[in-house]
Amino acid sequence: MGVVAQPDDLAALTRPDFPLLAQTACLGQPLIYLDHAATSQKPRQVLEALQHYYDHDNANVHRGAHQLSARATEGFEGARAKAAAFVGASSPNEIVFTRNASEAINLVARSWGEANLRPGDEVLLTVMEHHSNLVPWQLLADRTGCVLRHAGLSASGELDLDDLRSKISERTRLVSLVQVSNTLGCLNPIAAVAALAHAAGALVLVDACQSLPHLPVNVRQLGADFLVGSSHKLCGPTGMGFLWGREALLEAMPPFLGGGEMIQDVYLDHSTWAGLPHKFEAGTPAIGEAIGMGAAIDYLQAIGMERIHAWEQHLTRHLFARLQAVDGLRILGPTPGQQPDRAALAAFHVEGVHANDISALLDSAGICIRSGHHCTQPLHRHYGLSASARASLSFTTTLEEIDRFADELQGSISFLREHS
Ligand code: ALA
Repeated sequence: MGVVAQPDDLAALTRPDFPLLAQTACLGQPLIYLDHAATSQKPRQVLEALQHYYDHDNANVHRGAHQLSARATEGFEGARAKAAAFVGASSPNEIVFTRNASEAINLVARSWGEANLRPGDEVLLTVMEHHSNLVPWQLLADRTGCVLRHAGLSASGELDLDDLRSKISERTRLVSLVQVSNTLGCLNPIAAVAALAHAAGALVLVDACQSLPHLPVNVRQLGADFLVGSSHKLCGPTGMGFLWGREALLEAMPPFLGGGEMIQDVYLDHSTWAGLPHKFEAGTPAIGEAIGMGAAIDYLQAIGMERIHAWEQHLTRHLFARLQAVDGLRILGPTPGQQPDRAALAAFHVEGVHANDISALLDSAGICIRSGHHCTQPLHRHYGLSASARASLSFTTTLEEIDRFADELQGSISFLREHS
């Protein structure tokens, strides 16, 4: 048997970079942040990049001939090149900056969807999708008459690939799915899905919000046609996301929003469009946020996505071992035994105890987790739940934090059971 290499302790390496995580909570207890899937914390390198931009380079981009505008443009377009390299794009022209991943999906639904879908055409989604990958398609179905279908789940809480296969036909025009579920934590077999979709002549959109911060993602290896990401999930600022699309697809798509920046020439009665990617970026963009996201990508890449994934797998096994020992606690999604590459989060339900009560008691002990439906209401309904509690980790998480969380969780459940 081979010796399993011990992953590098990335918490020890990176914690000095995260001032927020060094604070104490009530009663002097250390604050423990286990809500990274909702939003990540930001290393000082990202905060410094933002500060530097506003201290030295702030100006509008692509417009001015002056030196500040040139530096702002260089920083902004440099961030695009970093995002392109991060996902393995062929060219920075394939990266469209958006406000967030939701806007990126809306862009595809509006622009590609309205131009290409006819009544009866099908868009195949999954039951585990975040609302951001459900609602834009519902709106599109209302406008175009396209039909939405949904692939189901296996008993272990993974994508049921056979069910997905059975729902792909010559009517399918797009398969849009999450790479890592923010609730189940499962890693979906995107390359296999893409092969099935392409064989039927359909495109594939990947929601990579929960995978990009945790493991290497390469659009070519995935066989994707579109991929969306979110800056604030990957240690960057809020208000920033991106769409990656194959250049030929983006070229053929009409603009999404109209305004400055996205035009070539404007007349009183019509306009012509800028080239990629600016055709899709109306108005002054989020310049500082883009530069901050670029710094976040630099930060993650300096650590190494393989190393991040290895450390987080180690943390996940520990988290599951502790949670599986809690009486009456049921975790949604596959165990690390069932799916070793699953994500470092656990959404769970405790018999007879409400998730909100658990998170409130943990908060009073300085531990931040999420409770609610995590923007996956249909998935919760599938399990007969209205809410779950969720602990989500990052490379900054320590084994000791997981232990303290598990101990406090056990105490909270006992307290709530006694007092119900
Ligand atoms: N989608 C984010 C989450 O999972 C907000 O918490």
